[in-house]
Amino acid sequence: GGSDGALMRFPPESTDPANAGLSIIQDLLLKVKKRHPEISFADLWAYAGALSVEFMGGPRVPFSFGRSDAPAGTHRGPIENGRLPDAAQGAAHLREVFHRMGMSDRDIVALSGAHTLGRCHQTRSGFDGKWTHDTLAFNNGYFVNLLHEEWVPRKWDGPLQYQDKRSGELMMLPSDIALLSDPVFRPIVELYAMDEGAFFADFADAFGRLIAQGTPATPPAKAGGCPFAALAAKGMPPPPSHAKASAELREHA
Ligand code: HEM
Repeated sequence: GGSDGALMRFPPESTDPANAGLSIIQDLLLKVKKRHPEISFADLWAYAGALSVEFMGGPRVPFSFGRSDAPAGTHRGPIENGRLPDAAQGAAHLREVFHRMGMSDRDIVALSGAHTLGRCHQTRSGFDGKWTHDTLAFNNGYFVNLLHEEWVPRKWDGPLQYQDKRSGELMMLPSDIALLSDPVFRPIVELYAMDEGAFFADFADAFGRLIAQGTPATPPAKAGGCPFAALAAKGMPPPPSHAKASAELREHA
């Protein structure tokens, strides 16, 4: 596994239901690829993931280049689909999936915090809704909501998922709720809900290792960051081209 090769361009990864929707952002990134053909798709996708965390207000994710693209039609070997995490399952399944990638229990909780972003789409995963009210801000809101809201099974004609009792506007997957009931995961959820800095540090470390899995691109201790985040820190607006790309992304996502 891992991002090397950019095998998500070909079946079976391109047709894995767990990857549904990723082609939208891959298509948007084609514009960057056309302007900078020297970057591999594998590096481009991983770099976009790292930069977007920082751009949305999160930590700088360690990143280095060096992935290459496998030639068209390459199959990743005998490994079939179904090894990505299944949201309908619990703590034992999360451990099975993430431990084999060298991730610890603490990494599992930190990485799950990415659900502070975005939402579930019925047409893609069958689940529906968002984890936080501000889906484009990277913060510890996922953990605050997970811990402090009351979660009840949603009554609907779809797979088991949970909704918050207070607003009814937020959701959690069974795999998210599993973090609350597990005696090892729960104290880590409590830590991140209280201490955003601890979450940011652990997320950057775990996500940096995740996107470097199986690649020659070992994350460096210090990495170049998002140029737009640097502008924002100086109180300067991003260039207009960036604002346009951002608007397009929102429209498509
Ligand atoms: C812990 C195991 C995980 C499970 C079971 C899981 C499951 C899911 C599911 C079912 C969706 C909804 C997809 C859709 O309907 O569009 C989703 C969305 C998302 N996941 Fe995860 N995920 C996991 C881990 C991760 C990790 C490790 C990351 C990144 C570090 C991540 C980042 C995201 C993001 C950003 C979205 C929102 C996508 C969008 O807005 O279109 N997830 N996840």
